[in-house]
Amino acid sequence: MDLTELIARGRPRFRTATAFVEAILREAILTGALPGGTPLRQEELAASFAVSRMPVREALRQLEAQALVDFAPHKGAVVTDISAADGADHYAIRAALEPAALRLSLPHLTAADFERAEGLLAEMDAEPDQSRLGELNRRFHLTLYARAGRPRLLALVEQHLAAADRYLRFHFAALGRDRMAQDEHAAILAAARAGDADEATRVLRTHIETAARDLERFFASRTD
Ligand code: NI
Repeated sequence: MDLTELIARGRPRFRTATAFVEAILREAILTGALPGGTPLRQEELAASFAVSRMPVREALRQLEAQALVDFAPHKGAVVTDISAADGADHYAIRAALEPAALRLSLPHLTAADFERAEGLLAEMDAEPDQSRLGELNRRFHLTLYARAGRPRLLALVEQHLAAADRYLRFHFAALGRDRMAQDEHAAILAAARAGDADEATRVLRTHIETAARDLERFFASRTD
C-alpha cells in the first residue's frame, strides 16, 4: 500500500490532524512504504494530507522523538535510514557491552533497583501503546546496568540501546509485541536478584542475540 492509499484509508479514524498525519506516516515508515532516506517535505505532505503545515511539522517532531524520522541539516526531515547491516552492527555492540555492564553492576544492585526493574516489566505488559515499549525496554535494561560505576561504558551502552530502539519498533511492527521477550527479561532479573552473574549475563546475551536474529529475518522478509 502506498502513502496515498494509507491516507485515504486512515483519514476518518483520527480526531486531530496531527494524530492523523503522525499515525499514517508512522505506518508508512514501518511497513517500508516510505523507505529509509525518503525526504519528507512539509509542503508536499500538507498537500497530500490536505492539512495545513502546522500539524505536519508537529507530526514530524513526534516521529523524530520515536527515532523514525531524522532532521538533517539543510535537508529537513528524512525517514530514518535503517538497514540490516546497521542493525546487526548495533546488536553486535550491545551483545559485547551490555553483559559487561551487567556483570560490573550486579553486585551493587539494591532491592529498590530490582523493584524498579520489576515495575518496568509490569508496565511493559500493561502498556497499550506499542511506541512506548522501546523506552520502557531501555529503562529496564539501564536499571540493571546503572550501578556499574563506569560512566563512559554506560554512556556507550545508552547510545547503542537508543540506536537499537528504532529497530525494536520495526521489529514490533513486523512481528508483534509478543516478541518483546518478557520471559527473557524476567529470567535476567531473576538471575540478577539471585546474584548469579554467569546466568544473568548468559541470558542477557541470548536475549540480545535472539533479537538480532529476529531483526535479520525481518529484513529478509521485507526485501522479497
Ligand atoms: Ni530487552
